[in-house]
Amino acid sequence: MDATEPIAPHGGRLVSRVAAADDRARLEARAARLPQVIVDDVGAADVTCIATGAYSPLEGFMGRADAARVLGEARLADGLPWGVPITLAVDRDAARQGGRTGGLLLRDAGGQLRALLEVREVYTLEPALEQEGTFGTRDGAHPGVARLAGLPRWRVGGPITLLSSPAPAFPESRLDPATTRRIFRERGWRDVVGFQTRNPVHRAHEHLLRCALEIADGLFLQPLVGPALDTDVEASTRMACYRALLAGYFPPERTLLGVYPGAMRYAGPREALLHAIVRKNYGCTRFVVGRDHAGVGRHYPPLAAQRIFDRFEPGEIGIDVLRFQDAFHCRRCQGMASLKTCPHPEADRVHLSGTELRAMLQRGEIPPETFTRPEVARILLRRGRAHAG
Ligand code: ADX
Repeated sequence: MDATEPIAPHGGRLVSRVAAADDRARLEARAARLPQVIVDDVGAADVTCIATGAYSPLEGFMGRADAARVLGEARLADGLPWGVPITLAVDRDAARQGGRTGGLLLRDAGGQLRALLEVREVYTLEPALEQEGTFGTRDGAHPGVARLAGLPRWRVGGPITLLSSPAPAFPESRLDPATTRRIFRERGWRDVVGFQTRNPVHRAHEHLLRCALEIADGLFLQPLVGPALDTDVEASTRMACYRALLAGYFPPERTLLGVYPGAMRYAGPREALLHAIVRKNYGCTRFVVGRDHAGVGRHYPPLAAQRIFDRFEPGEIGIDVLRFQDAFHCRRCQGMASLKTCPHPEADRVHLSGTELRAMLQRGEIPPETFTRPEVARILLRRGRAHAG
């Protein structure tokens, strides 16, 4: 890292595990001799995050010591904080073959993503331990628990090297950590706030963004576009919403839109920790954690994703976490407010759940301006109709 950069990557060094041009022929020859494993969309997203350095200091899929300590203590085996185990589940045959040959060629279903895995370790993870440690629950209604329950127990760990990847979904907004760090430097932003989102942008999000931008030099709006639940609004619609909001309501020289290719895990507090560390790797100095960050259903108390950061010394995480309480439009305050600033009763506050919003859109009604900007509402309405039709 350039010594003048405001924030070092997690663990001190930005990882790159993309095959170097002068080593490609050797790696391809090795790949041709190895057994192949098809990874699911979450595994493919993890490969991308590892290869581009978003998951620094990880150089590959975790072995047992890292995975076990992350589950138990939210730390890697060397003590560095980490939120969620990044492991690769494979069936017994692939585990055996990988152990025997010392390597696997990982591919996605389309065959466009290809990565070499140097198999250093083959092990099993106890499902109950993994579910409880990651999600704080073993409730099968939790989508993350359900996904883990469907995976084989076998894990293969070791460094990866990315050989090829599919064309990115939003090429103009696909900014890898080395690129965002360069852009921040060129723009003279020393204090950058990162914002994770997986939902169509609404006025409460905007309120958080404005508050954060009052204190930082720049805003890096980084929507997650990796695998998520079908019930979440699809990424292309959300991207259109974010673009409309930024174009209409923020000074362009103070914002940057880039996609986060990682998968949504719905792990609440543990995922908030992962999200903060990832944004540190992208070069952000601050990260927003609001109400029920990365939550799903009613699995986590609203501020649990903020409290997890209290378990660490501030210097251990490195990035400064900006905590926000529930934000809403208040009719009596006549503007955006929050639990911290508004004394009025619930009846005066505009709260719209995702379900209520979807129902309005299905009826062809435009959501109120107090909930979302009209430019955003129109996109949601149009796309909703297109999907329904
Ligand atoms: S998340 O899964 O990415 O957390 P979402 O896109 O809804 O979902 O949230 C993005 C960020 O905004 C998160 O930090 C979340 O906690 C915060 N947030 C969303 N809605 C509110 C709200 N009404 N009040 C406070 N924070 C909120």
